[in-house]
Parts: sequence; C-alpha cells; structure tokens
Amino acid sequence: VARIGKILGIWTDVDISEDEYANVEWDGLGFGLVPTDYMYMNTCRGDQQFGEGQVSVFGNIQVSPSAGVLNYGQGLFEGTKAYRKENGHLLLFRPQENAIRMQIGAERMCMPSPSVDQFVDALKQTALANRRWVPPAGKGSLYLRPLLIGTGPVLGLAPAPEYTFLVYASPVANYFKEGTAPLNLYVEEEFDRASRRGTGSVKTISNYAPVLKAQMRAKTRGFSDVLYLDSATKKYVEEVSSCNIFIAKGKRITTPATNGTILAGITRKSVIEIAQDHGYEVEERGVAVDELAEADEVFCTGTAVGVAPVGTITYGAKRMEYKTGRATICQELHSTLSGIQTGTIQDNKGWVLEI
Ligand code: COI
Repeated sequence: VARIGKILGIWTDVDISEDEYANVEWDGLGFGLVPTDYMYMNTCRGDQQFGEGQVSVFGNIQVSPSAGVLNYGQGLFEGTKAYRKENGHLLLFRPQENAIRMQIGAERMCMPSPSVDQFVDALKQTALANRRWVPPAGKGSLYLRPLLIGTGPVLGLAPAPEYTFLVYASPVANYFKEGTAPLNLYVEEEFDRASRRGTGSVKTISNYAPVLKAQMRAKTRGFSDVLYLDSATKKYVEEVSSCNIFIAKGKRITTPATNGTILAGITRKSVIEIAQDHGYEVEERGVAVDELAEADEVFCTGTAVGVAPVGTITYGAKRMEYKTGRATICQELHSTLSGIQTGTIQDNKGWVLEI
C-alpha cells in the first residue's frame, strides 16, 4: 500500500499491490483506449507557473465551451510508455525528453509548461496509480498520454487565461492493425503535413486532425498509412502521419533531418544512437524521394509505432519493395531498443527510469 496522491481532493492510500492485474484480455490489445483507474491533473493561470498536481479518478473533464483548446486548438500532447519488467518493476523510457519537448512546444504555442521534474513526477504518479493496467512483460505497455491544453475561456483569438496539464493512460500493444507485419505506405502527393516555419516539429494537437483525410484515403485503398513529402519542393521525404522514417542501404542508415517540419521523435533519436553503437553510419539530411528506389530497407519509428518494418512504398505508378523479417537492420534495432525499454538488455545510457 502506498500513498500516491489525492483522489477527489483527499490524500489517499491506494493499494498498488505488485501482482494484481486489471481484467484485460492482454493478448487482444491493439492501440485503442482502454480506460484505466486514474489520471493526473494540474491547472494553472496563464500568467503563472504550474504548482502541485493531483491524481484523480479517470473520467470526463469539464471545460467551458469557449476553452482555448476547443476553439483555437491551443494544445500539445506527448506520448510515452511504462513497461513491466519480468520482476514486476515498472520502467519509463527517457521521460525527461518528453518533458523538454513539451516545454519547447509550449513556448511555440504561448502556453506555460510544467517543469521537467513536475512532468516526470506526473508520469510516475499516473503509471503507479494505474499499475494493474500495465500489461505483463512481453504483452505490451501502458501508454501514457500527457496533454497540455488551454482550458480557460477565450472568444477573440488570444492565448487562453488558464491551462491544464493532464496525463491519462491506456494499456496498448501494436499500433497498426498489421501488428508486427510490414507496413505498406504510399507517397502522398496531394496533401502536405507541414510547411516551412510552421509547427511541423511541434507536437501540437493541430498537426494531427489535418492528416486524417489522407490517412483514411490510404486505408480505403488498402495501405497502412501515407508518407509525406516536403511542401516546398515535393522532392524530399518527411514523415508518416504518426511516425518518423528511416531508409537503409548497406551499412548506411539515413533519416530526414529535423529542420522544423519534422517531429523530433524520441524513438528516432534513440534508434540513431543505437545504430551508431552497432557500427552503422547514420546520416540526418534531406532524403530525396528518389532514394526510396535504391533502399534495401525502410522502417518507421515512434513511441506508439516502435520500430516498424515497411514492406512496400507506392509512389505514383511505382511500387518499391524492401527486405523485411529476420536478419534485417530494422529487426536488430527493434530488438535492442525494446530490450532496453523492457529491461531485458542492460541500459548503459541512463535512458530507463525504474519507478
Ligand atoms: C506517439 O507515437 O506516441 C504519438 O504521439 C503518435 C500518435 C499519433 C499516436
């Protein structure tokens, strides 16, 4: 039994016994919301800093119809995961990186942001309060979704007078319906994801609804998702709706540089470092769409997606196929990263935080 926070405003001792699991069909998990017991909430005025937050029972939140986030999309989100080790202990992966990315995004979106310590503490409290929802080792993870949203009322276009930082959780397994099977992408030539000096590099909620149309169209046509090109020249690869992209040829791995239109993924950054440690030459630069035709392998990275192989990319009338499966670079990087995240491979980098 441990004191984890306030529930309905009262400091409460909650049973967080190690071996108690929620009633979940662990083998049936995908990436859909499975509501858990608790969420974390913290509210502050726009001209102040966040104070102490609290854990409360998971449920709907009340906001004014004129909340900044509802009317003008003033909001950011993050994504990170808690993993259960074989011995039952819980691990977070590089949570400080999410905190810093939220701070950078908040500055761009004119919002106050939690400190790194407040952010990491909120993740810990949310994961521990919901520990019976963390899947058994090997069955998935507890996805933690921090939100920073303008909840104060506005009518004219202006920063909201009040903000809410909250974290909720859901057990998850594979993101795509393909499971671990290779993805089939097509190069999106009609719609753009981000423009130069826009907010493509920021995890603002307003980057995500605009990609739904292309994503839905791709799925209707039997593809997993789309691959975006740069909006200025349509010559360079940018990213997929929900993840970054890498191409590999021989011992060289290339990924689009984070030049402002690409989300600076934490999985992306980690995979680059692991690949370098494994002796690959990693280039971060503009990746011409024509290079897709030369690649041996293509793979996607993201918190939700993990490290996922791409089997085919369709670009206009051309369909390109890539090596997938055993003895691939994608497989090697995936197993190293997930081994570190789940505690089966020793973390020599200080990436994992046991809570
Ligand atoms: C994540 O990978 O955590 C994301 O935030 C992407 C989201 C579209 C699921």
